[in-house]
Amino acid sequence: MAAGNLIDGRVIAEQIHAETAQRVWALKSRGIEPKQVFVRVGEDPASKVYVGMKEKTSARLGIASETRVLPETTTEADLLAIIGQLNADRSVHGILVQAPLPKHISESRVFAAVAPDKDVDGFHPINVGKLMLGDETGFRPCTPAGVHELLIRSNVKIAGAGVVVLGRGNIVGKPMAAILCQKSHHADATVTICHSRTGDVADHCRRADIVIAAMGVPEFVKADMVKPGAVVIDVGVNRIADSSAKNGSRLVGDVDFTRVQPIAGLITPNPGGVGPMTIAMLLANTTRAAELATR
Ligand code: GUN
Repeated sequence: MAAGNLIDGRVIAEQIHAETAQRVWALKSRGIEPKQVFVRVGEDPASKVYVGMKEKTSARLGIASETRVLPETTTEADLLAIIGQLNADRSVHGILVQAPLPKHISESRVFAAVAPDKDVDGFHPINVGKLMLGDETGFRPCTPAGVHELLIRSNVKIAGAGVVVLGRGNIVGKPMAAILCQKSHHADATVTICHSRTGDVADHCRRADIVIAAMGVPEFVKADMVKPGAVVIDVGVNRIADSSAKNGSRLVGDVDFTRVQPIAGLITPNPGGVGPMTIAMLLANTTRAAELATR
């Protein structure tokens, strides 16, 4: 469904899944079974949902997966030991440790422990460095890579565009900016990162041809912050109280969708925009890890 000015992430994700499924089939015809392992520590409700969706979609594409569920009390040393075993296991091509981790575990040490050639999340410092350098042999983090694909496959002109990225997190904001500012095909944008200490965020947004909201503030991007015709991508997933909802809360993005949609040239719905793309890029990364491991 490409209704009006909507960028339908579900449709584009299905296109990528179809391409990935072909590659999985090619691997299997050579006797190679692509496999990834998800590691989830504790019972964070959102993480349970995300890992469950990743497992289900893996199965649909013929990628084997296994989820290691570890108790909240797992020590960092135990988690690092498990990652070490998965690194050494030749049947495992991709490893994903779901964030957030419990407070007593260092995410950066854990991400750095995953073998870079199995780091389908793109969080290892080597892959982060390759992304910055424009070295395409690394793995790109799934959410910003998914946003990039959404823009490309929606024929958005990125070269020369003014892009505002809202948020400077390691999972989305920083890698997003790095992808779009590269001197390369489908990049070459002029990128501004805005964050909690930016003076006049609205002023930056109003000048942007593309706004990518990934700061985790419910419905932050308002209609008067968007230039008419601009492309608006909503990465946010925020749970807010809603007494009229069955469980007392509902999910909203970082964009005030109802008011921004009439002004935007193109806009992602939320849900159904960026979310499905994250999984599509993960499975593409895992398939690539299997292809590279078995060349
Ligand atoms: N938590 C939120 N987004 C992500 C992601 O892309 N990968 C992992 N591992 N954890 C996350």
